[in-house]
Amino acid sequence: MRTFEQISTLRTYLRAVRQERKTVGFVPTMGALHAGHLSLVQRAKSDCDVVVASIFVNPTQFGPKEDFAKYPRDTSRDMQMTANAGVDALFLPPVEEMYPSNFQTWVEVEKMGESLEGAVRPGHLKGVATVVTKLFNIVQPDIAYFGQKDYQQFLVVERLARDLNLPLTIQMVPTFRETDGLAMSSRNAYLSEAERTAATLLSRLLALAGSRVQEGVHSASQLHKELTAVVAAEPLATLDYIALVHPDTLQPVEDLGAGVTLVALAIRIGNTRLIDNALIAPEGVSLPRPRVSRGV
Ligand code: PAF
Repeated sequence: MRTFEQISTLRTYLRAVRQERKTVGFVPTMGALHAGHLSLVQRAKSDCDVVVASIFVNPTQFGPKEDFAKYPRDTSRDMQMTANAGVDALFLPPVEEMYPSNFQTWVEVEKMGESLEGAVRPGHLKGVATVVTKLFNIVQPDIAYFGQKDYQQFLVVERLARDLNLPLTIQMVPTFRETDGLAMSSRNAYLSEAERTAATLLSRLLALAGSRVQEGVHSASQLHKELTAVVAAEPLATLDYIALVHPDTLQPVEDLGAGVTLVALAIRIGNTRLIDNALIAPEGVSLPRPRVSRGV
């Protein structure tokens, strides 16, 4: 595996790759890698000739009171994992390489970035959209891979790629889960033993939402009430939001019988904020395949 800290040397490497007419798959990460990240790498390897991954804890997507300073960082372990997974090139830029002094250009996706995470983490999705656009410009991948766990992030990236005419495909990869259902996340490392047990609350809520809609509960407000009661019964949990929204627009839906709905959750377990989501559908309506958006 080749590693690069500078944009210019990564570009030189990628120029040679493209001259050989090889396709490039890209997996952007913030490090603290887990099996979920590796599933993105595996998918990229099966689709593309060359796989580039990046590790960059992007300061602009953390609010002033968020966990930027304590976000888990273990570069040598991450390098070992990416090399073992068959990543060809790893981009590890220092902050000054991505945000030189006098940096002043931002990418902001308006409507799609306003609800859910956008409403509770001001500036977060603007930081994500900006760094992802920069990484796309640097790597110029044919296909970029993102996990379903950050569903709104995926829609924001999909929107910016279309609006800015970026010529790449954005592929969603299903959320990778622990055997008890907890979605893999670098932030799971913050959980104490008791919190780790309580954290299965999120996947239990998603499973409950899926079965209730199948059983014929088609009122979003009714389902919201039932899910909120389950959260209230877990002493270690504090609800940030439970949203029942359209999977393309993230606009709230009321009639769950009308088609596929996205259930998006943000819940604090102790001091750790976890998110998760699932698509649910009434009986007779099948769930779509993982989302993919082709460049225009
Ligand atoms: O999902 C993440 O890890 C980050 O938001 C991303 C896409 C790497 C941008 O910093």
